[in-house]
Amino acid sequence: MAAVKIFLLTVSAASVAIAGSNGNLKTCLRDALTDSGSVAFAGDPFYQVADVNRYNLNIPVTPVAVTSPTSSQQVAAIVQCAADNGYHVQAKSGGHSFGNYGLGGTDGAVVVDLKHLQQFSMDSTNWVATIGSGTLLGDVTQRLHDAGGRAMSHGTCPQVGTGGHFTIGGLGPTSRQFGAALDHIVEAEVVLANSSTVTASDTQNQDIFFAIKGAASGFGIVTEFKVRTEPESGTAVKYEYTLEVDSTEERASLFKKWQAYVANPKLTRKLASTLTLLEGSMIITGTFFGTEEEYNALDLGNQWGGATGSAIVFQDWLGLVGHWAEEAALELVGGVASNFYSKSTAWTPSNLMSSETIDELFNYIDSADKGTLTWFLLFDFQGGYTNDIPADATAYVHRDVLIWLQSYSINLLGSVTQTQINFLEQVNKLVTNDKAPYAAYPGYVDPLMPDGPEAYWGSNLPRLQQIKDDIDPKNVFRNPQSPSPAN
Ligand SMILES: Cc1cc2nc3c(=O)[nH]c(=O)nc-3n(C[C@H](O)[C@H](O)[C@H](O)COP(=O)(O)OP(=O)(O)OC[C@H]3O[C@@H](n4cnc5c(N)ncnc54)[C@H](O)[C@@H]3O)c2cc1C
Ligand SMILES: *[C@@H]1O[C@H](CO)[C@@H](O)[C@H](O)[C@H]1NC(C)=O
Repeated sequence: MAAVKIFLLTVSAASVAIAGSNGNLKTCLRDALTDSGSVAFAGDPFYQVADVNRYNLNIPVTPVAVTSPTSSQQVAAIVQCAADNGYHVQAKSGGHSFGNYGLGGTDGAVVVDLKHLQQFSMDSTNWVATIGSGTLLGDVTQRLHDAGGRAMSHGTCPQVGTGGHFTIGGLGPTSRQFGAALDHIVEAEVVLANSSTVTASDTQNQDIFFAIKGAASGFGIVTEFKVRTEPESGTAVKYEYTLEVDSTEERASLFKKWQAYVANPKLTRKLASTLTLLEGSMIITGTFFGTEEEYNALDLGNQWGGATGSAIVFQDWLGLVGHWAEEAALELVGGVASNFYSKSTAWTPSNLMSSETIDELFNYIDSADKGTLTWFLLFDFQGGYTNDIPADATAYVHRDVLIWLQSYSINLLGSVTQTQINFLEQVNKLVTNDKAPYAAYPGYVDPLMPDGPEAYWGSNLPRLQQIKDDIDPKNVFRNPQSPSPAN
């Protein structure tokens, strides 16, 4: 409780400081949002409660204003007010940024909350869907289903927003077959820093199209997506293999078997798999997009000997997607704000962990002071379609990744402690091959990471900085880790 009180004091002190000098901004935004839409300013009554929902309670941030436009015209007018008065801008879609970047990431941003942008339509001649950028993933699933039994790849947390997810990556169980969410985008409507609204696609504003597919938060606000869709998968088998309270050696041994299995380049793209380490257990979960007979033929139980397996066959897509949202790790963090810290790293087929490194990792995990019982490490099998796209085709650069690690540590009682942070940093240090450039997933922002832009966008960073220079030289769209203009 003490920590919470300190937060509130800090926040209101900052609000007062900001509120003094923004008269022109207030007038401009109120004029921009007369007919519909709304705006709340820092210092207003109920501003905290109604408009600033920080997903990561560990990171304080106070926007100067939170706007809720109802059209792309209003989004453009808001951007103009902010740019003319020297404020930075961030869109908020689902508000699930690990660094609260949807609230600006640092104090004083004008936030454009996209919650009213819910437009949806399906072109049944080519099955391209039009989706407003305030739509949450759970609603995307339902609306695509209702529009002809269609689907697309995206992550499994229903409360995540399309705005932040489709523009940063968007990896989910069907990504090995159909790509990241951003690989589905065929066109986007984007509001730029000079407040003009453009269409970006493979044939129009190609640089902007490149940038918004993986780094949009620094380049503009996508108001609407057009995405290709696939038919929903028919039968699918969701499996789970668990090792409870086993020795360090047995865990390391199962991990090695799993890594070797997913490293087989001939392995079917219909198989998704995640290995999760939690306090007291190790679980391999995933979905096979095919029939029970095909699934049985994989004989996973034999591959991962020692673990207890179970499987559920799904005939309906909505049931399967609903079940994904109930995974252990998501249940802990999905819909609720908490104090947490998270890091990511990745392996390609050529720098997978050696047997010795895996032993070291498991020894460390079983002996380290983690500072909490609520930590987990997710090893996500990637590869497949996401590897087919050249690294320079979209801002999202990590096309060679075979396995992503996402590590998480939560404090249910107050601020994240240095012991918790040290544990995640030490895990990353142990497992990362320092000969390769460090890769981090831009969707799991790690505000403490130095050189964030290099880790998120790698060899695409110079081109992004050039585009930034061309379309947003004053850095209107920014958060603590977005690309800076080249000059
Ligand atoms: C519980 C949980 C589960 C997750 N699971 C997955 C997963 O399975 N797979 C995966 O790939 N990722 C996953 N993520 C990461 C998630 O994809 C990112 O956090 C994503 O950026 C969140 O988007 P948002 O719209 O909810 O967040 P926001 O905080 O609203 O936005 C995040 C960033 O995107 C920017 N942004 C938002 N909308 C727009 C827009 N329209 N135009 C331009 N910029 C915009 C914001 O300004 C901000 O910088 C998960 C995150 C959480 C918290
Ligand atoms: C706004 O910026 C875009 C991208 O640089 C440019 O194409 C467009 O002409 C600019 N619009 C105006 C009105 O200056």
